[in-house]
Amino acid sequence: MKTKYSIVFICIVALVIIEKESNIISRVSDKIIQRHAPTLDPHSPLDNSNTTQNGPLSLLKMLLSKLPGAKGNYSNFSDEQEDDELDDLGAYNSSRGRKHVLLLARTRTGSSFVGEIFNQHGENMFYLYEPLWHVARMLSLGEEANNGTALSRIYRDVLRGLFLCDFNPLEKFISPPPEERVTAALFRRESSLSLCEDQVCSPFVKDVYEKYRCKIRRCGPLNLTLASESCLSKQHHAIKTVRVRHLESLQPLVEDPRLDVRLIQLVRDPRAILASRMAAFSTYEMWKAWAQDGQVPEDDEEVKKLKGNCDQIRMSAEVGLSQPHWLRKRYMLVRYEDIALYPMQKAEDMYRFAGIPFSPQARDWILRNTQTTQEEGDEYSTRKKSSEHAEKWRFSIPFTLVQVVQRVCEPYMKMFGYRIVDDEKTLINKSMSLLEDRLFH
Ligand SMILES: *[C@@H]1O[C@H](CO)[C@@H](O)[C@H](O)[C@H]1NC(C)=O
Ligand SMILES: *[C@@H]1O[C@H](CO)[C@@H](O)[C@H](O)[C@H]1NC(C)=O
Ligand SMILES: *[C@@H]1O[C@H](CO)[C@@H](O)[C@H](O)[C@H]1NC(C)=O
Ligand SMILES: *[C@@H]1O[C@H](CO)[C@@H](O)[C@H](O)[C@H]1NC(C)=O
Ligand SMILES: *[C@@H]1O[C@H](CO)[C@@H](O)[C@H](O)[C@H]1NC(C)=O
Ligand SMILES: *[C@@H]1O[C@H](CO)[C@@H](O)[C@H](O)[C@H]1NC(C)=O
Ligand SMILES: *[C@@H]1O[C@H](CO)[C@@H](O)[C@H](O)[C@H]1NC(C)=O
Repeated sequence: MKTKYSIVFICIVALVIIEKESNIISRVSDKIIQRHAPTLDPHSPLDNSNTTQNGPLSLLKMLLSKLPGAKGNYSNFSDEQEDDELDDLGAYNSSRGRKHVLLLARTRTGSSFVGEIFNQHGENMFYLYEPLWHVARMLSLGEEANNGTALSRIYRDVLRGLFLCDFNPLEKFISPPPEERVTAALFRRESSLSLCEDQVCSPFVKDVYEKYRCKIRRCGPLNLTLASESCLSKQHHAIKTVRVRHLESLQPLVEDPRLDVRLIQLVRDPRAILASRMAAFSTYEMWKAWAQDGQVPEDDEEVKKLKGNCDQIRMSAEVGLSQPHWLRKRYMLVRYEDIALYPMQKAEDMYRFAGIPFSPQARDWILRNTQTTQEEGDEYSTRKKSSEHAEKWRFSIPFTLVQVVQRVCEPYMKMFGYRIVDDEKTLINKSMSLLEDRLFH
């Protein structure tokens, strides 16, 4: 009996304390839930509850119902609400509302176009196009870099530096080395609107730096101190890269309390990627030869590489979609084909996910660049009549190669909703969509 009374007593004391400290409790409970029930969203129900009205009991009930083993219906908490609430989290507020968008893609997946959607945001965005290019280039010259884990760490550290506006980690990989922090060799500087603004555009020197001029104007070599200052003055940062291989390798970056990172993984139909690479890269000559032979050696390194890429991308997406604790609400999967079909809507979705207001400039850019025809001869051009362009590959890739891709990338295609075709007729029949409706949450 005594024990019973003391339990009741303890409960009463606890409730009184909870009543007073309900704020703290709700914060602590977040942590408990996060630790014990990683498949549930820790924030929405508690943050939504009106604790004054509901009282500590319902708070406790809610807390208990969320612990492992409890059954409940949590399907009704909308993502939109949760996105807003993320900004109120204490653990992540040292970025002062600054958002860091990392666009993860592969070559020929439409990443230039999607990156541009962020680049065009306007004066509050600092965007970098493929800064890891420098790392990859320098390390493939040296011997030490063949370690996947070590390489991932370098990529991560360079990205972290750039998100914090620190160009030092990147600077070590720029070749030739910058002199007095000034370089004419920053890869695709002209793809970054913020690196072509007045503050960072030094006077152009004729001929010498012709190659590195900005699209909108001519600028001299880049002063990295100025680039860093420009970066610091921008509210939001975005980086596009095709070089990160394993989503898990980004965990320390995502958990860095100085950053508020949002990852957008972009995928595309692997048959389209192959078709596009065959058109753009000379290293894909072999595929063309195989297509003519009608014979593809399945154990060839190239085919294995294709399979490896498909598996890697799929496994990263599996990690992201499984919503591990460190990635909750920080991961979004986007299919290029959906962006091509609904560019405005998808752009809005991505901005909403990123927590960045969609700007009139970005809207204008999308309107202009999804309705004009493609500029011929510019392989990297993001100007395209997007929906039509996204399907062109169906008429350029030999069916033999389609069959190979379908064989080695089947799990990838199933996961992302790319329809397998059994014959060439279907492949080139435009009224047959190869895209299954999918929502990725
Ligand atoms: C909590 O609920 C009470 C009663 O319904 C209401 O008056 C109050 O405005 C609510 N507070 C918040 C923060 O929603
Ligand atoms: C959960 O709630 C949703 C929306 O209210 C409803 O459609 C669904 O059937 C419920 N599921 C369960 C298991 O109660
Ligand atoms: C789910 O949300 C809708 C709209 O907000 C609401 O009308 C409905 O009652 C909710 N269902 C549950 C089970 O909470
Ligand atoms: C978050 O913001 C609150 C209030 O603005 C502040 O007290 C707290 O120290 C901040 N947390 C971090 C980690 O910066
Ligand atoms: C690769 O990196 C990991 C972790 O940094 C290390 O444990 C391992 O020894 C490295 N392997 C080689 C061959 O350098
Ligand atoms: C680069 O910019 C900084 C900041 O304005 C300036 O102090 C420095 O002299 C510049 N470097 C060169 C080589 O012009
Ligand atoms: C293309 O597919 C549609 C829809 O299945 C079908 O009706 C049509 O006959 C097909 N066209 C050709 C040329 O096979």
